Amino acid sequence: MDPVLPIAVLSVLIGAVIAVAFFGSYFRKRSSEGQSISKPELQEDRKKQPSKPSQHKKSHAKPHSSDKDQNKKHHPLDVNTLKGHGDSVDGLCFSPDGRSLATACADGVVRVFKLDDASSKSFKFLKISLPVGGPPVAVSFSDDASSLVVASQNLSGASLYMYGGVEKPKTPNESNQQSKVPLPEIKWEHHKIHEKLGILTLFGTTASYGTADGSGIIASCSEGTDIILWHGKTGKNLGHVDTNQLKNNMAAISPNGRFIAAAAFTADVKVWEIVYSKDGSVKEVSKAMQLKGHKSAVTWLCFTPDSEQIITASKDGSIRIWNINVRYHMDEDPKTLKVFPIPLSGSHYDRLSLSPDGKILSATLGSTLQWLCVETGKVLDTADKAHEDFITCIAWAPQAIPIGDKKVLVLATASVDKKVKLWAAPSLHAS
Ligand SMILES: *[C@@H]1O[C@H](CO)[C@@H](O)[C@H](O)[C@H]1NC(C)=O
Ligand SMILES: *[C@@H]1O[C@H](CO)[C@@H](O)[C@H](O)[C@H]1NC(C)=O
Repeated sequence: MDPVLPIAVLSVLIGAVIAVAFFGSYFRKRSSEGQSISKPELQEDRKKQPSKPSQHKKSHAKPHSSDKDQNKKHHPLDVNTLKGHGDSVDGLCFSPDGRSLATACADGVVRVFKLDDASSKSFKFLKISLPVGGPPVAVSFSDDASSLVVASQNLSGASLYMYGGVEKPKTPNESNQQSKVPLPEIKWEHHKIHEKLGILTLFGTTASYGTADGSGIIASCSEGTDIILWHGKTGKNLGHVDTNQLKNNMAAISPNGRFIAAAAFTADVKVWEIVYSKDGSVKEVSKAMQLKGHKSAVTWLCFTPDSEQIITASKDGSIRIWNINVRYHMDEDPKTLKVFPIPLSGSHYDRLSLSPDGKILSATLGSTLQWLCVETGKVLDTADKAHEDFITCIAWAPQAIPIGDKKVLVLATASVDKKVKLWAAPSLHAS
């Protein structure tokens, strides 16, 4: 009987080892499956970034390249990066409450990110794949965060689609099942809106001036010389103007919905008034004034929050601030209030955006981002390589949004580098 015991013990031991090995690897496999399932499919994950040394083959040894990433990432105002875009991001727009950010990407998708906390490690987003035709190039919320107007274009022209029911993105575990998420619906669409030409910008606002009825209105600016005003809810064409200035650069609507102003190839800036009838609808869009003073093309412009001033950036190397609160009906001309030299070696800016308090002007040239004090024209901060490629679009959130337990004014920038970045406002008291 005695020799049997060691054999039995041995076989039990061997069996236990095999079982541990088998179940161990089984459970490891299970837990990694569990992990990948619990991660929303398209959610970005910042932690992943440094573990992709293959993208940095040409830089130095591994420890160095991750140091480099760290340095690049940490401009002090750089709050976050929204990843997940498959191609160049060409347009972006915040909802009126600042909590949703829509982006137009050359991968054919419009994404609506939910910014409950701008410093989150990842963001939920709603994905809208456009009908076949061409990639989205610009987006503009209309009326509220649930309506979004999207411009897309291809060689035969530009289209506008208005999506209703752009609801809050689903919770992480629901957004896994992409097929079950109902798509927002197209409420109206128009094709070849600028004939064969593409769209440069789409800017919208809520019409609140005078007798205006509070409708969302949107201006599409073509790469030719025309600009069309649209009614957000119905898609009705409300009016049409022509800059007659060879080629448009962009067109903006004043926050109160009273004016449209265009930056174009020649130096003068044309301003139109949107005239409302007593019933609150748009009666016409008529010529109002011209801002004369720049010596070269105006690349971009923006209105101040009170709709009484316009800030322009020109290839003549200057920024001008204009008072347009004049009795232009009585031939009173808009006045230049301030002229600042553009403090960059390139001497011009591609894009401008003014903070919602009207105090900070952000401006870009190529991949450089700069913040200026509107009062003094002084540089508050500069991010030399804010992106790895050309910055295509910038916009301030209309309201301060949460970063951790604080609320902060945030600027969003989009780039050909497939990224959207969020930046905190610099202090006005920086040297
Ligand atoms: C361009 O887009 C329009 C409308 O979306 C579509 O009907 C047309 O077929 C597209 N043309 C090309 C050349 O892709
Ligand atoms: C995940 O889904 C379940 C059921 O579908 C739901 O009860 C739960 O609240 C969801 N979790 C989160 C974090 O939303």
